[in-house]
Amino acid sequence: MNILLIGSGGREHALAWKLAQSSKCDKLFLAPGNPGTENLGINTGIGVEDFSAIENLVLKENIGMVVVGPEVPLVMGIKDHLLSNPALSSLNIIGPDKMGAQLEGSKDFSKKFMNKYGIPTASSRTFTFQTLNDGVEYVSKHSLPVVLKADGLAAGKGVVIAQTNEEAVATLKEMIQERKFGDSSTKVVVEQFLTGIEVSVFALCDGENYLLLPEAKDYKRIGEGDTGLNTGGMGAVSPVPFVDEIFMQKVEERIVRPTVSGLKKEGINYTGFIFFGLIKVGDEPFTIEYNARMGDPETEAVIPRIKSDLVDIFEDVGTKTLHKTKLEIDSRTTTTVVLVSGGYPEDYEKGFSITGIENAQDVLVFHAGTSKKEGKLVNSGGRVIALTAFGSHIEEALAKANLAADTIQWQKKNYRKDIGLDLLKK
Ligand SMILES: Nc1ncnc2c1ncn2[C@@H]1O[C@H](COP(=O)(O)OP(=O)(O)OP(=O)(O)O)[C@@H](O)[C@H]1O
Ligand SMILES: [Mg+2]
Repeated sequence: MNILLIGSGGREHALAWKLAQSSKCDKLFLAPGNPGTENLGINTGIGVEDFSAIENLVLKENIGMVVVGPEVPLVMGIKDHLLSNPALSSLNIIGPDKMGAQLEGSKDFSKKFMNKYGIPTASSRTFTFQTLNDGVEYVSKHSLPVVLKADGLAAGKGVVIAQTNEEAVATLKEMIQERKFGDSSTKVVVEQFLTGIEVSVFALCDGENYLLLPEAKDYKRIGEGDTGLNTGGMGAVSPVPFVDEIFMQKVEERIVRPTVSGLKKEGINYTGFIFFGLIKVGDEPFTIEYNARMGDPETEAVIPRIKSDLVDIFEDVGTKTLHKTKLEIDSRTTTTVVLVSGGYPEDYEKGFSITGIENAQDVLVFHAGTSKKEGKLVNSGGRVIALTAFGSHIEEALAKANLAADTIQWQKKNYRKDIGLDLLKK
């Protein structure tokens, strides 16, 4: 079968690496792909929002399976677009339709959904321009800290945790009145702050059934010891030591199952990944957010632990037979360390030549923000390369990943050396 994978980050390189290992994968196309996927498939260079070019490619290359990596095309309705072509009605698309992607695309939708189906989450209220005065009144008296979230997609920047009521009022006004995030902040969800430790849980859905994948924990802050600015993600580990069987049972019963059955009750044929952003408060799981795709860098830690054939698993999505799918998992720990451009997540310089990848031992090297300039590999994004190493425990995996991180060089490269170490103290 010919397969198309949409996206160009480390997440997509990891998915491409896994898909290309399947004997069922004939030709793998990427839209657009990155220098790391060059040897795994055909980089088409087609942008993730160019739906008509994607549609033409699917028709021309007789593609039977489309895997959507990032959220933007999902929220824009790539699945709806492709399936509206009668010639593509049997296309197997890994990724939800526009309605299903609202789980991620609208915080207000996801809160209403969680409340309707009794899924534990922070209590909240949503405000708009029409109800701004009520909102100001509400946040000026809210207990602290208080969380304000732009309703729509904001590339991971739409959440503010206000420490004072004045800051909360100012943030609410900035978001709604001054349209800080454009259309994404015409609505704002104001919610109670929960204290606990976060974990990402992933389920693959076929519209009826779900398959749980290994969980992971990601590290968002730029600095060691979880300090400094938020980033797209500086590293991840899987499995997560504090996630035991009892906790996972609660997650499945209270969160995963009601989500999947709720989607069905809403008439949504959800085919694809659900990312449950969870927080463990005491011993109890609460849902912070949903995403309609896999996480990045969590994918780079989770996918290598899956021993089963990923094309087989995705075929089971298409035939709605995930309840019969047996997932074989590597019991070892993976640690993913992300190498970033110096200065990221603020301004950074691009175009430095990257060397030493061929000397990195005992790790998987996934490209994210790299590109080719006059045949040479250079950094072209904030997050440049993700390195995943296996170990019998976090320290062993981390030592390997950090060693490789040292071996790969470009000017001003930066990375965190402490990924996963906080979990050892717990
Ligand atoms: N109610 C809450 N209590 C405590 N912390 C919260 C709460 N809501 C959000 N956060 C913090 O803010 C982060 C971002 O929130 P959320 O996941 O909703 O936003 P997002 O922009 O969709 O994130 P992502 O880019 O990971 O999809 C969370 O990972 C968590 O650390
Ligand atoms: Mg999100």
